[in-house]
Amino acid sequence: MIDVKAIGHATFETPDIGRMADYYTGVLGLHPEYRDEARAIFVTGLGRETLVLEKGDVARCTRIALQVAPNTDPGAVARDLSERESIRSERRSGITPGITDALVFKDPIGTEIELFTAWKAGDTRQTGGISPLKLGHIAFTCTDVKLQCAFYERVLGFRVSDWMEDFFVFMRCGPDHHTVNFAAAKAARLHHVAFELKDWSHIGEACDLLGQNNLPILWGPGRHGIGHNIFIYHRNPDDQIVECYTSLDQMPDESLGYYEPRPWHKDKPQRPKVWKRADAALSWGPQAWPDYFRGKD
Ligand SMILES: [Fe+2]
Repeated sequence: MIDVKAIGHATFETPDIGRMADYYTGVLGLHPEYRDEARAIFVTGLGRETLVLEKGDVARCTRIALQVAPNTDPGAVARDLSERESIRSERRSGITPGITDALVFKDPIGTEIELFTAWKAGDTRQTGGISPLKLGHIAFTCTDVKLQCAFYERVLGFRVSDWMEDFFVFMRCGPDHHTVNFAAAKAARLHHVAFELKDWSHIGEACDLLGQNNLPILWGPGRHGIGHNIFIYHRNPDDQIVECYTSLDQMPDESLGYYEPRPWHKDKPQRPKVWKRADAALSWGPQAWPDYFRGKD
């Protein structure tokens, strides 16, 4: 029904917007496009809207903005959502400086989806900090991972890229191996948020920046099995896990059904499959520190 093409930005509520804004500016290297007491909107150095912070009682991800094809008719999508899925949606305007309007509705765990057709770049500028290329993916935990997966397939047009056994699904909406992930747990919450970096040397620079800011790397550098991305993970001031990654598997042609061959693939060609947990977590690299797993059950 809906054919999502890409992720735009994600919106997070935070009890301390100043502290988080300082982190996303000084450490992650985004720059504020808009700022007031209750809201901050950040773009990458390339002017791409990436993250919105809003004042809230608890730290949580409340919305993800997903881009659909420019010729999508929001009215027709709203009717389809209502008639086929009994989902109520609403048109909202002034989403961000770069997105004039969106069709908004909730997924099964209550995250609001903001569907938009076009965006306008903000100012481009050199930033300090890590300075990622884009928001890459968002991972959530949920109590019914099969239901969540089916919703993203049936309603939003995502495809399953890989399963880690039967409890962790990785889903794509474009060439990137995954844009959303869902892991089974006792409650629905953010699992981690991930930003794409340019290459290996950019990961090295990020490690140095995290060290300079006394933010421990909780897992990595290493290469995952699923998705084969080079990764590092740390926690932001709201205690949320943030991943910086590069070298994620790409599927440029859906009809071929396999990822671009890479030297580190064991399957030739590498196709979507169900992975064993140990193989899925690491191609190589250290095991995660215990603090990586805190709050994920
Ligand atoms: Fe990730």
